[in-house]
Amino acid sequence: MQQNNNRAQFATRLGVIATTVGSAVGLGNIWRFPYEAGTHGGGAFLIAYLCFIFIFGIPILCAEFMIGRHTRSNIFGAFRQLKPTGHWHHVGYIGIVASMMILSFYSVVAGWTMEYLYQSVTGGLLLASPSDFDKQFVSFSTSNWRPLMWTLIFLSVNFLIVIRGVQKGIEKMSNIMMPILFVILLIFCVNSLFMPGAADGLKFLFSPDFSKLDSQVLLGAMGQAFFSLSLGLGTMLTYGSYFSNRTHIVRSATTTALLDTSVAILAGIIIFPAVFSFGISPAQGPALVFEILPNIFNQLPYSVVWSTLFFFLLFIASLSSTISMSEVTIAFFTEEKKMSRKKATIVNTAIAMVFGSICALSFGILGDFTICGHTVFSLFDYVSSNILLPLGGMLISFFAGWLLDRDIIRQQLTNKGAFKVYTYKAIIFSLKFIAPTGILLVFLSSLNLI
Ligand code: PFF
Repeated sequence: MQQNNNRAQFATRLGVIATTVGSAVGLGNIWRFPYEAGTHGGGAFLIAYLCFIFIFGIPILCAEFMIGRHTRSNIFGAFRQLKPTGHWHHVGYIGIVASMMILSFYSVVAGWTMEYLYQSVTGGLLLASPSDFDKQFVSFSTSNWRPLMWTLIFLSVNFLIVIRGVQKGIEKMSNIMMPILFVILLIFCVNSLFMPGAADGLKFLFSPDFSKLDSQVLLGAMGQAFFSLSLGLGTMLTYGSYFSNRTHIVRSATTTALLDTSVAILAGIIIFPAVFSFGISPAQGPALVFEILPNIFNQLPYSVVWSTLFFFLLFIASLSSTISMSEVTIAFFTEEKKMSRKKATIVNTAIAMVFGSICALSFGILGDFTICGHTVFSLFDYVSSNILLPLGGMLISFFAGWLLDRDIIRQQLTNKGAFKVYTYKAIIFSLKFIAPTGILLVFLSSLNLI
C-alpha cells in the first residue's frame, strides 16, 4: 500500500487481489465448506452455493467495492456520507456484531489448527487408524484448557499484528503462502483421486440429489457463500476504500470469487474421497476436516512434513482472514468513536477473548449450555453466517440498486468510462431485483413463511 490523500492505497493489482483473496480464503473454504456440504447432502448444496456466489455474491462484492472506493470510508462513514439524513449507517452495526461473533468462533478453529500444527511437529499425528484420529480430536476438543489456551494464543497473535499495523508484513507473507497453499491442495487432490472411495466421494460432491434441496440447505448454502467471500459486514467495503482509481472493480470481484471458490472445491475433492475411503460419515459437523486430514497425511510418505506445512499454511490463511474482520471493528472505534488504534485493538481483542473462550468451552464443559438447541459456538456460527451476513448483503444490494446515484455506479464500475464492462447490466439487475428479493425469499422459506 502507498499513502495518498492521507489514506493508504494498494500499489499494485496483485496487492488488491492478494489482500481480498487473503481475507476470503481461510477456514471458511477448508474447514467450513466441507462440513456444511457434508451435513447438507453434498451435490445439491454445492450447486446452490455456486448459484449464490455468482448471482448474488459477485454483484454484492462489486457493490461493497464501489461504495468503499467512492466514499473512501468504513461502512458507517460510507452510508453517512451517501445518505446523511437516513438510518442507513445502522447497517454498520450488523457488521460489527457479525465480525465480533465470527472472530470469536473462528479463533477457536484457528486454535485447533495451531494444536494440529504442534501435534504434527511433535509427531503426535502418527496414529494408526481412523478411529484413533476420531478419539484424538474428541479428547482434545472436549478437554477444557487446551482449546481455550490455543484460542487465546491465536487472538494474541492477531492482536500483536493488528496493533502494530504490520498487516503489510502478513499480506506480503500471504502473497507467497497462498499460492503455495493452492499447489499443496492440488497435490492432495491428486492423492485423493487415487483413493478407493474416490468415486463415491466425487459422486457425493458433484452429483446433486435435488430432493435434498430444502430451505435449510438453501439457507446454509447462502450463508456459506457470504461467509466465504467475507461479504455483508463491511470487510470488503473497507478494502475497496483502499483501491486506487485504476483498480478494475468488476474484474477484482470476479477474480476473488473464482479463486475463493476454487479453493473450496479443491478442499471438497480432497475431503470427500477420503471420507468414503475411511468409512467416516460426511455429516460429522465441525470435526470433519480435523478427523479426515490426519488420516490423509498418515498415508503419505514424509507425513510429518506434509501435515506441518499444511497446518502452518492454514494458520496463515486464518490469520489473514481474522486481520480483515478485526479491521471492521477497529475502523468503527477509531474513525467513528475517535479511539486510538491501540485502545480500539485492545477492546476488539478483549471482547473476542471473552466470547472466544465461551466458544472454545462449547465442546467441553459448556457443551450442555444451549440456546435454541445450539451451543454458543454453533449459535455464533449459524447466526453470523446464515442471518447477519446475508441480511447485511441484502441491505447493501438494495442500497446500491435503488438508492445509489447511477453516475457514481457508472464511474466506479467503468472507471469513468475507461473500461467496457460486459456484465454491467447484469450486475445492476442483480443488485436491484435478484439479490435483495432472493435473500428475502430464502429467509422467509427457512422460517416456513412461504
Ligand atoms: N472469508 C473467510 C473464510 O472463508 O475463512 C472468513 C471471513 C473473513 C468472514 C472476514 C468474514 C470476514 F469479514
